[in-house]
Amino acid sequence: MVERETWATRVGFLVAAIGSAVGLGNLWQFPFKTAANGGAAFVVFYLIAVTLIGFPALLAEFVVGRRTRRNVVGAFEDLGGPGWRVVGGVALFTGFWILSYYNVVGGWVLRYVLGSATGAYFDDPGAYLSAVASGPEAVAAQLLFLAMAVGIVAMGIENGIEKATKVMVPSIVVLMLALAAWALTLGGAADGLAYFLSPDVGSLVDNAWTVVPDAVGQAFFTLSLGMGIMVTYASYVGEDDSLPVDGGVIVVSNTLIGVLAGVVVFPILFAEGIDPATSGPTALFEAMAAAFASLPAGRLLGVVFFGVVALAALSSAISLLEVAVSYATDNTDASRPTLAVGAGVVLFLLGLPSALDTGEPGGFSAWFVWFDAIAYKLLLPLSVLLVVVFVGWVLGRDAVAELREGSPGSDGLATVWLWTLRLIVLGGIIVTLRLGIGSLFL
Ligand code: PHE
Ligand code: NA
Repeated sequence: MVERETWATRVGFLVAAIGSAVGLGNLWQFPFKTAANGGAAFVVFYLIAVTLIGFPALLAEFVVGRRTRRNVVGAFEDLGGPGWRVVGGVALFTGFWILSYYNVVGGWVLRYVLGSATGAYFDDPGAYLSAVASGPEAVAAQLLFLAMAVGIVAMGIENGIEKATKVMVPSIVVLMLALAAWALTLGGAADGLAYFLSPDVGSLVDNAWTVVPDAVGQAFFTLSLGMGIMVTYASYVGEDDSLPVDGGVIVVSNTLIGVLAGVVVFPILFAEGIDPATSGPTALFEAMAAAFASLPAGRLLGVVFFGVVALAALSSAISLLEVAVSYATDNTDASRPTLAVGAGVVLFLLGLPSALDTGEPGGFSAWFVWFDAIAYKLLLPLSVLLVVVFVGWVLGRDAVAELREGSPGSDGLATVWLWTLRLIVLGGIIVTLRLGIGSLFL
């Protein structure tokens, strides 16, 4: 067994975890899911879900990882016995499932960085999208995106992931702030912000049952939960770090970047007269591209916008690759680079159906939509449910003790956390699963 690395610094851990959390979930899915669910009302449910369900669940994953310092499968086995390996197995499966199409979207983003620089989509954004979103070009772009992620993970925790995310995450924040400041000067700013941020209470109540599963699924996805990522990243953390403080920093940063994304996207859409409600998953690419095509300095803005999205997607993809590589390094003697390439090959093959499928014009096919729906409505809630049951009941007081490690004076809070997990998080997930499965299969 190869000796286990650790983060060089606490900031290194934080930045890597933020890099994992901030991704396509914030910059691409959050704006379009908000739009699809009627605007600000969705934002309200999402914020509640992140705070009351996502945050406690994040701490549960941290506790498992730091207590055992093992990969996600080994961690559950160490703490609960061989039967509980299944929790780690479900997490690994969920992560591979999601990353298989995440990489394809990552490839699109790379194409849009290039397309912005050359102006290739400026004449006909729709035709450009059809050409790059599926087929051989999408396969090639997916491969390039994966190769970048594999390269970083192959270099290791300290020299690869930590160094890379230390550059990427601050760049994302600075560039997003600059883009938001610019978007607020556009003619559509006031309307865009109103659409995004002032909820219509009536629709909030009417739509609760359809919005809840989407909001909870989005909370898990955005915080990188249910995929073994936060278990794995916390397994490299020391006993003197305060997990609640670290978790809070991650949740707040991730939420702020999501809000910034809305502040960038909605004013642009309103300024260009594009109806956000009709902008599906690829329509957002199309809409943003159309906007850049008609704006002064559109090439530069396009490179910056899609460049930020690419950085964010990459720092998420590496976190998921690391879950698989960490599992394999704990169980074989093969070198880290070999294992990283191996995981990359598997992911490439799994992504081929999403990259090749041309079910609809624009390439966002039935396959892709089905994959995403299964992930949100079934796999993520199920995977987090297993973690919550394990930490809430099997670990119980041991989990409270681990959470308190490194955060003196948090005794009362740690107990509140345990009960939140047992009641609110569990209840929320069961409702989500019931509604989600209902909408998938009925
Ligand atoms: N948290 C990521 C995001 O919001 C989701 C993710 C992470 C997906 C890692 C895959 C792998 O985009
Ligand atoms: Na996120």
